[in-house]
Amino acid sequence: MCGITGYIGHREAYPIVINGLKRLEYRGYDSAGIMIYDGKNIQLSKTKGKVSDLESITNASPTKKVGKIGIGHTRWATHGVPNDVNSHPHFSQSGNLVIVHNGIIENYDTLRKELISRGYTFKSDTDTEVLVNLIEEVKKQEGCKLGKAVQLALNNVIGAYAIAVFDKTKPNEVVVARLGSPIAIGVGKNESEFFIASDASPFLEYTKDVVYLEDEELAIIKLGRAIKVRKIKDDSLVDPNIQELKMNLEEIEKGGYEHFMLKEIYEQPKAIIDTYRGRMLPDSGIIKMAGVDDNLNKFLNAERIIIIACGTSWHAGLVGEYLIEDMARIPVEVEYASEFRYRNPIITNKDVVIAISQSGETADTLAAIKLAKSKGAFVFGICNVVGSSIARETHAGAYTHAGPEIGVASTKAFTTQITVLSLISLKLAKSKGTLSDSAFRMYLQKLQLVPNSVEQLLKIDEKVKEIANHYKNATNCLYLGRGFNFPVALEGALKLKEISYIHAEGYPAAEMKHGPIALIDENMPVFVIATNKGHYEKVVSNIQEIKSRAGKIIAVVTEGDVTVKEIADHVIEIPETEEALTPLLTTIPFQLLSYHIAVLLGKNVDQPRNLAKSVTVE
Ligand code: G6P
Repeated sequence: MCGITGYIGHREAYPIVINGLKRLEYRGYDSAGIMIYDGKNIQLSKTKGKVSDLESITNASPTKKVGKIGIGHTRWATHGVPNDVNSHPHFSQSGNLVIVHNGIIENYDTLRKELISRGYTFKSDTDTEVLVNLIEEVKKQEGCKLGKAVQLALNNVIGAYAIAVFDKTKPNEVVVARLGSPIAIGVGKNESEFFIASDASPFLEYTKDVVYLEDEELAIIKLGRAIKVRKIKDDSLVDPNIQELKMNLEEIEKGGYEHFMLKEIYEQPKAIIDTYRGRMLPDSGIIKMAGVDDNLNKFLNAERIIIIACGTSWHAGLVGEYLIEDMARIPVEVEYASEFRYRNPIITNKDVVIAISQSGETADTLAAIKLAKSKGAFVFGICNVVGSSIARETHAGAYTHAGPEIGVASTKAFTTQITVLSLISLKLAKSKGTLSDSAFRMYLQKLQLVPNSVEQLLKIDEKVKEIANHYKNATNCLYLGRGFNFPVALEGALKLKEISYIHAEGYPAAEMKHGPIALIDENMPVFVIATNKGHYEKVVSNIQEIKSRAGKIIAVVTEGDVTVKEIADHVIEIPETEEALTPLLTTIPFQLLSYHIAVLLGKNVDQPRNLAKSVTVE
């Protein structure tokens, strides 16, 4: 939700900040803005729309691009509609302070009224303009420097924030702070330059040395000096932890693909291998996962496992429920993090909570983790972004080594989350003795074959494109699956909704007759997963029910299928595997299908309307 970039150093700031904003557009793209300090004045450019719209504006006024300090913002609107005035950066009343902000100030209305009573006026409807004026007021009243004023002001704020603030009267520093929303600081050689961003991708080509601010920390970034990090609550000094990044630039570029989403779909064979490499040793018949090994008794003695997540990660969690219960026979509940955190759930120290999140920054998931921890549960994280807030907040965890996922519609994160969940289920099953050694070894062999099967499946891209062309004008679609593939039906429907804006519903195939069947007519495409070991005959009966009501059937079946082929309008074959592993394959055609439909409809695949990749507000 909202992306922040900034630069202070010896180079021209504009290209660094604007290119950084392009890399952060996955975080929000309702409006964009940039301020450049040219040594005397602050040059501000901002607009409703995307970073490319901002670029057109600045290209028309090249003088606004000159200067060695800059901060920029790409917005996902919370307070105030996306328009030019509400776009960031925002000025304080005097015009001296400039701010960019990612997050929500919950008590902004009270603060605003107080500031109005002190003579402040506001141009925008944003909570951010309230914050910058609060900092200005504190600075005036206390007669202090910017860093101190930011610290004192933030102590009066309720909500979440990552901010960068610049003061024209002290133009050699930028102050940044975080609570709930991420912020990374790139450190140049000998502190000759600094980079600020919501994640490290904007400055990867300049430096690999990075400081990730922790919650409730503030950093004063001054040229030629080591970063000073302080606790917002009590102003105490903290030693900044400079880490070296392992990520490289190619990983966050499109690499010849038209869209990030397509690139990420095609990266899945490698992402799955990277996720199980070193953990799964089929020849020795073992699974090694430090986070699970070190806490094995907690898992084995758990009265139940609660999985919490949002969006696609929640769908992966649902697959996890089927896997863990089936293999390890431990009761599992799967909860939306946003519901869990607010419904006074019963949690005890006998529960193990698994939190799943690609970004590791989702506000609801993070809050749910904190709640579970406060009630004594052991919390295990499955995250993709190394060093993210959720990775740090959980007691232990396992990374999905999917590499950066930029497309808003999640693809490789989903399949790698399922890979980790499969490993955990198998490991627990082996330790509990609920799976025989031979079955365990057989699963490892089969899991090792999955990346190859995904590779093979990706070759049907052209066929899926034809099917997409056939159904691109549908207004409603139904996705059906049973057992392990019920969550895949939900995920298939979500993918289509997210990027093509076609209404779609995922349903357990047998539940269809309790409602959705009323929707079926000759205009309704129904995507059905009918793998050969997944209650095949039952699903075939469901397909017959749809056919006899003139519905169109697009079926995902196992190679060599005969029966469904005769009834369905279109058939997509997946290579044979164990039923528990089929979600890793059945999901691929649905990802490709949504992608092609969205492209054929001319939609913005990587940046669908109203969505954001990382939802750091509740
Ligand atoms: C957003 C994204 C989804 C994602 C969900 C959870 O809504 O658009 O693609 O599944 O957040 O994100 P997380 O990073 O926690 O997996």
